[in-house]
Amino acid sequence: MRRPIFHKLSLIFGPRPPWTWLLLCLFSVLALIVLLRSSTSTSFDSVTFSIKSDIYINYRRLKEQAASDYLELKSLSSGNNILKEISLCGREREHYVPCYNVSANLQLGFTDGEEFDRHCELSQHQDYCLVRPPRDYKTPLSWPVGRDVIWNANVKITKDQFLSSGSMTKRLMLLEENQISFHSDDGLIFDGVKEYSHQVAEMIGLTSDVEFLQAGVRNVLDIGCGFGSFGAHLLSLKLMAVCMAAYELTGSQVQLSLERGLPAIIGNFISRKLPFPSLSYDMVHCAQCGILWDKKDGMFLIEVDRILKPGGYFVLHGSSLSTKKGSMDSPIEEFTQKICWTFTAQQEETFIWQKTNDAQCYSSGKQGVIPPCKEEHDIQSYYQPLSSCIGGTESKRWIPIQNRSSKVEQYEFYEDFESSRLALRNYWSLLTPLIFSDHPKRPGDEDPLPPYNMIRNVMDMNALYGGLNAAFLEAGKSVWVMNVVPTRTRNTLPLILHQGFAGILHDWCEPFPTYPRTYDMVHANGLLSNLILEGCSLKTLLLEIDRILRPEGWVVLSDKVGPIEDARMIATQIRWEARVIDLENGFINLYIRRKHACIDDARNLSIVIGLY
Ligand SMILES: *[C@@H]1O[C@H](CO)[C@@H](O)[C@H](O)[C@H]1NC(C)=O
Ligand SMILES: *[C@@H]1O[C@H](CO)[C@@H](O)[C@H](O)[C@H]1NC(C)=O
Repeated sequence: MRRPIFHKLSLIFGPRPPWTWLLLCLFSVLALIVLLRSSTSTSFDSVTFSIKSDIYINYRRLKEQAASDYLELKSLSSGNNILKEISLCGREREHYVPCYNVSANLQLGFTDGEEFDRHCELSQHQDYCLVRPPRDYKTPLSWPVGRDVIWNANVKITKDQFLSSGSMTKRLMLLEENQISFHSDDGLIFDGVKEYSHQVAEMIGLTSDVEFLQAGVRNVLDIGCGFGSFGAHLLSLKLMAVCMAAYELTGSQVQLSLERGLPAIIGNFISRKLPFPSLSYDMVHCAQCGILWDKKDGMFLIEVDRILKPGGYFVLHGSSLSTKKGSMDSPIEEFTQKICWTFTAQQEETFIWQKTNDAQCYSSGKQGVIPPCKEEHDIQSYYQPLSSCIGGTESKRWIPIQNRSSKVEQYEFYEDFESSRLALRNYWSLLTPLIFSDHPKRPGDEDPLPPYNMIRNVMDMNALYGGLNAAFLEAGKSVWVMNVVPTRTRNTLPLILHQGFAGILHDWCEPFPTYPRTYDMVHANGLLSNLILEGCSLKTLLLEIDRILRPEGWVVLSDKVGPIEDARMIATQIRWEARVIDLENGFINLYIRRKHACIDDARNLSIVIGLY
């Protein structure tokens, strides 16, 4: 608790002072502050001590620094516990995801699957605490080894669950002593998945699945992804496949996918729309994903239609359909005609439909066709109730996937990319021994060549046009980025998805729909000041970052001086190791490391970096 004070004093007075010096030092600092607060600005220039190692180069910043030191001292001297370290949550919260309390939802009368919905109002007003890793938590193996082998203790799954899962990949998964292996004999992923992918490609008229990209299929939403192996295969073909599944208490598909370094997000559309704009995906895939598509007057299919791009595909795989093999009068088939989908092909248990290219189809007044929505408010669709009309038909983005050009020529866009490229170069060179000398996952001299990487799952909390993502790719890093576009800012998500990146809308005053310990690096540029303007709690946000960050993960916050100072103060409470780095563009960077040892009662330090 006293460490921050020592730290700052040592910056001013050199090496850490002995106890006898401490009182004197405190008095000096207090006197300095009194001087500062009671006098005009010029008096400060005469104070002649040098601060070499800190960042406060000019007077204004020095003053703000002194003010925040003053606050710290005041809180200490008044016995106020503002700076007390936040305690650890109980072991029952090791896999805690706020907003998804199933038992509370059931008590409130939500049923028929709605108990798995997001209800953030129930998660508010809880005590601050730090979600800790399971006892035997181990640093995941680095990419790409970690895609095929994960540590059993890191995820919540039982052997029985594993073997009884309905996933088509279950047969090939082996549970070893403390690892789950997704290997197959040929070394990569399952033969079954490769064959399946090939089959889907053939069914939409391609000779092989390497042609998906040419056919305009670049991003895929995989609903109920099993353990992510189909997505892993698509990623290897340079498609972006995002796994989405409802919250699950154990054996979560989303948790497993993220643990493997595959893009995934918690989500469902039982009663509310997904946090994506209309016309977002080229393909929506469901293999035994548990959704009863013919229920609720086809509302689930309407939601899939909304997020599909014109000409996009809906792929349904499951034994429940095959009993009605070829029958064109099943409820689903009947409904797909109402939303202008064309039945493309069926092979065994796999069915494919294609969304129309023709926006007029919905408005032509055809008998039985679902009409377009009157108002196009769904661009900011953020957990709005499901609608029973067709969205996106008036959009400028109504461009068939087979026709779109891959180029995006926008000036702002370019600027975002250029500045991100610079920033990334900075981050990478600063995440080096200079900052955290004993960090087991820092890039630097030993930064391995692609495809190996220590950082795999990255979140850009305020992604703008996805510039950071583009910069990562350009730098040859084998990462994927969850590009988050905050609500109440300009919705640039369509432009991000257009580049084949993963992305989602999110209100950062609420918890993010993911499991604990799922990201290696979290980046936020300019988010803190926005959040403060909106009146949301910075502390809650940083605790949420702590929850979703893997032990030894990185946070890079870039913002104005005030919010960064606040964040640094909270960082010490969260037991983060934080360093401020000055940038001369008015923004300051705060580099944070979520330490493993601090969080896990220094018991388990067996850190495995990788097999390269
Ligand atoms: C979920 O809700 C129940 C009942 O309201 C409550 O007892 C429990 O503590 C909640 N769980 C979490 C993890 O918040
Ligand atoms: C898509 O391309 C085809 C052939 O190049 C063209 O006939 C059609 O008008 C285009 N559709 C749209 C909506 O641009």
